[in-house]
Amino acid sequence: LAVAALCAGARDFPGSKTVTLVVPFTAGGPTDRVARDLAEAMRKPLGGAVVVVDNAAGAGGSIGANKVAKAPADGYTLLLHHIGMATMPTLVRNIPFKVESDFEYVGLVNDVPMTVIAKPALPANNYRELVSWVNANKGKINLGNAGVGSASHLCGMLFQQALGVEMTAVPYKGTAPAMTDLMGGQIDLMCDQTTNTTGQIEAKKVKAYAVTSPKRLTTPALKDLPTMQEVGAKDFSVSIFHGLYAPKGTPAPVLKKLNDALKVALKDPEFIKKQEGTGAVVVTDQRMEPAGHKAFVAAEIAKWSPVIKAAGVYVD
Ligand code: MLT
Repeated sequence: LAVAALCAGARDFPGSKTVTLVVPFTAGGPTDRVARDLAEAMRKPLGGAVVVVDNAAGAGGSIGANKVAKAPADGYTLLLHHIGMATMPTLVRNIPFKVESDFEYVGLVNDVPMTVIAKPALPANNYRELVSWVNANKGKINLGNAGVGSASHLCGMLFQQALGVEMTAVPYKGTAPAMTDLMGGQIDLMCDQTTNTTGQIEAKKVKAYAVTSPKRLTTPALKDLPTMQEVGAKDFSVSIFHGLYAPKGTPAPVLKKLNDALKVALKDPEFIKKQEGTGAVVVTDQRMEPAGHKAFVAAEIAKWSPVIKAAGVYVD
């Protein structure tokens, strides 16, 4: 009887029940931006379901991820997370969940480049001048991020390595509040995703110095920014992928419905326009399939683990 009920539930999914998309950072930041755009684009293919975003922030994204890992495996609680799923296993020693076995991988959503930005009053006007300023202010520089495990933390770590200068990390529950403090001059520098920085760079509310993509970007406000590799950080290339996850054990028919809806969303012109308007690139390859998503995250874990270990960065 229980199995029959489960199958009926899966067949009717999502019905009139609300689907919750957990974002492990504060509202208004880059992860939240992707989630709200995606929720909008998945509503129709999910039969007009109500898809709400729940910002469960903190601990570099692991609080929100853990909330979904422990949620009922019925498809009504999903996680939208990024590269943190590949860096947390190495960065966070007592992580309360297993990235590779506590989740079902629904599919990948996009790839987002990052930008090295500064408070508007910082006197450097190009990357070379930024390096001089950093060297002249060693020991006094505040670098904003969204906690150990966040994309901004990973990029900030690589940036400090590239310059050979240690900075004071100022963690926030997301890079939306960090951006507010950066624009206000409370912190000096940050490395954040173009989904959160493009508008502020265009409005000249922050200064921008470089992009972390292997090639220059075409977004008008970002096209003149050099890549970190151009300015001499030869191994510096960071792209932030966002993926959709459900708790382990979510029924296969439900996962198929979610993946079908995701693939419709990824082809939605409105969704693509919103994403590409801020430098994000919507996934069009096998990574939109659960197997491709899972394989990609495993490869990213293998890629970043030695880099993080070499930096000696972790939290207990
Ligand atoms: C990060 O990892 O830096 C997050 O993207 C921050 C956020 O989404 O607020």
